[in-house]
Amino acid sequence: MKEQVDVDNLPKHIAVIMDGNGRWAKQRGGLRIFGHQNAVKAVRDTVEGAAELGVKYLTLYAFSTENWNRPAMEVSALMQLLVSTIRKETATLNKNDIRLKTIGHTASLPDACQQELQEAMELTSQNSRMTLVLALSYSGRWDMTQAVQRLAQDVGHGIVAADAITEATISQYLSTAGMPDPELLIRTSGEQRISNFLLWQLAYTELYITDLLWPDFRKEHLYEAIVAYQRRERRFGKTSEQLIK
Ligand code: IPE
Ligand code: IPE
Ligand code: MG
Repeated sequence: MKEQVDVDNLPKHIAVIMDGNGRWAKQRGGLRIFGHQNAVKAVRDTVEGAAELGVKYLTLYAFSTENWNRPAMEVSALMQLLVSTIRKETATLNKNDIRLKTIGHTASLPDACQQELQEAMELTSQNSRMTLVLALSYSGRWDMTQAVQRLAQDVGHGIVAADAITEATISQYLSTAGMPDPELLIRTSGEQRISNFLLWQLAYTELYITDLLWPDFRKEHLYEAIVAYQRRERRFGKTSEQLIK
């Protein structure tokens, strides 16, 4: 599969909704957290695979604003898993020249998580092969709301003129400022929805949904998704004939 990937036509930014951990565990008669524990392997493989190919940004939806509504035990287990995984993986990120970044309302994460993330981001800040973005306590509507709040403040302070606001201005106030919009969104577990992920940024993203459950996802599946993406015709509203010219 890897040979089929056209490295000259790679998506610069791939976003992933890592879904299906609970069902994966249930199929094996385990608790949901068993599925989350086994998701780490899929994350490691996908991060490595994307970096090896030359993808510049990989954004992983790890915990949504709505996920706070899960049972407290599951939430706290996920937070602990986040801390231990970041601690274990930072050295590998450095070895692979990968920078870590987060998007989302990270101030609502437990202190231990915030500290661990802060440290890992500092330790990897000079890396440049790929940026790994973890979406934590993230939702698209949260992102737009915080952007509007900050933009309104800047308009109030005379830093930005209201009639000078463009689409580019809005992009700069979103948490993904400075990053290209994802060309490809992968969602595992077959659900056909966005689940409040990057709403603005996904405006023209190609969607790739696989029935595979996230803990089973590996590099080869990433290659499959990229090959499928490369076979698509991205028209951006134009006609097919216009593209051939
Ligand atoms: C995705 O798997 C992980 C998170 C949302 C944190 P789920 O936990 O949603 O697994 P399913 O969808 O219930 O199978
Ligand atoms: C989306 O998965 C959020 C993450 C993968 C972090 P969910 O399992 O929470 O989404 P729904 O409930 O199926 O929409
Ligand atoms: Mg789910």
